[in-house]
Amino acid sequence: MEKKKIISRHINIKSSLPAPGTKNLFTRLKKVESRSMHGQLPIAWKSAKDFYIYDISGNKFIDFTSTIFVANTGHSNDRIKKYIRKTLDNNFLHSYVYINEIRAKYIEKLVKFFGKGFQKAFLMSAGTEATEAAFKLMRMYGQKKKKRKLGIICFEGNWHGRTLAAQMMSGDENQKKWAGYKDKNIHHLPFPYPWKVSSTTPEKFLNKTIRKLKKKIDLKKDVCGVMIETFQGWGALFYPKDYIQKLSEICKKNDIIITFDEMQAGFSRTGKNFGFQHYDIVPDLVCCGKGMGGGVPLSGVVGRADLLDLPDIGNMSSTNSANPISCSAGLAVLEEIQKKNLTQKTKIKGKILHKELEKISKLKPNIFKVYGKGLIAALIFEKKIPGIEVKLKYFVEQCIRDGLLLVYTGRESIKIGPPLTISKDAIITATKIIKKNILSIFYDKNKTYRSSN
Ligand SMILES: Cc1ncc(COP(=O)(O)O)c(C=O)c1O
Repeated sequence: MEKKKIISRHINIKSSLPAPGTKNLFTRLKKVESRSMHGQLPIAWKSAKDFYIYDISGNKFIDFTSTIFVANTGHSNDRIKKYIRKTLDNNFLHSYVYINEIRAKYIEKLVKFFGKGFQKAFLMSAGTEATEAAFKLMRMYGQKKKKRKLGIICFEGNWHGRTLAAQMMSGDENQKKWAGYKDKNIHHLPFPYPWKVSSTTPEKFLNKTIRKLKKKIDLKKDVCGVMIETFQGWGALFYPKDYIQKLSEICKKNDIIITFDEMQAGFSRTGKNFGFQHYDIVPDLVCCGKGMGGGVPLSGVVGRADLLDLPDIGNMSSTNSANPISCSAGLAVLEEIQKKNLTQKTKIKGKILHKELEKISKLKPNIFKVYGKGLIAALIFEKKIPGIEVKLKYFVEQCIRDGLLLVYTGRESIKIGPPLTISKDAIITATKIIKKNILSIFYDKNKTYRSSN
């Protein structure tokens, strides 16, 4: 990318891009690090504060990613730093599972923050550990009832992580080929994409898929759990509310545990404390991570006491469970959300973001649709646009040149999830960059769509 100077209140691009030294850093890492960690966009991070990212040349970008929906309370949040510093100054880095005050204080507050129906939690470090633990709890519950009650219902297109059970529950067939076998007790239902349910009702759509499943298995005797991502990750697509309410009813009737994967949706992201609250149901278990630790590795399963107590003493713990540094960060995240009223503010700022994106989507012809709630949004482009994935990669690179970082999904969507602390003004600046680059890539000078695209 050539040299270009951009200075505004929120953006300062003063070097050529990628910043000098970026290529060298890629080369050094490629020599010593697994290939799987590479292929990122060409931006070498030096630091991040609030909703800004600074690269190794001191270029300043607006962050529309929260790294990957982690920095909900803003990058390098002062309260998180203060609480971690206090724990460090207390000479307290680790205590394995030995009890301590910070762990008690955090878990008490966490369970209370979840509200009615939630009594206990189990903490870990990665999101995939949380979905793995929920898988185990659902299976343990089933096993207690009947040996054959092993089935877990999951969804097409959902994502739950990279460890074995998490990958088996995820919807992407290619990603799990390495396992070499399929768990025949994991059943994937089709996702009620808006374009699929438009000719029927969400309830009828669900009933049809359940009827098909019931030809193979008995729900009550064979199914112990449902694992559901609160919204479909790649496209920020929520389920229709009626669909989830009906699903929850089916679960209650058939003694099936319903688990929500709130990795991306939790901790105020969608304008509610948790995304499942949009559906007016209470899950039995919730898996969370990402924004939970505000940048420090922290994940957990929160839910009904009888489920969290299924494993025997020592049968569900990890060396780094409830690490004091992670608990300090988690506590600071909850206090930030509550003291700064982040959930309500996210709802308001989300409306501004969605309104601006909707305006861009009205360009004629309409080439993408906007999905999501609060400060999570996805632009889903027409799949039939030739080479759309490559074009969107180019689009994201052009936005970086203009000082904005977006999430490139590798498919026909772009995802947006700024820190919830972002200012309204920065949202407007960022959406102007999005509009400018959509116009220059997909439309000609008269704002007419380039059909040759
Ligand atoms: C919905 C969802 N579940 C689970 C995970 C796995 O979390 P982690 O990468 O922390 O293991 C992710 C990560 O992207 C996710 O988005």
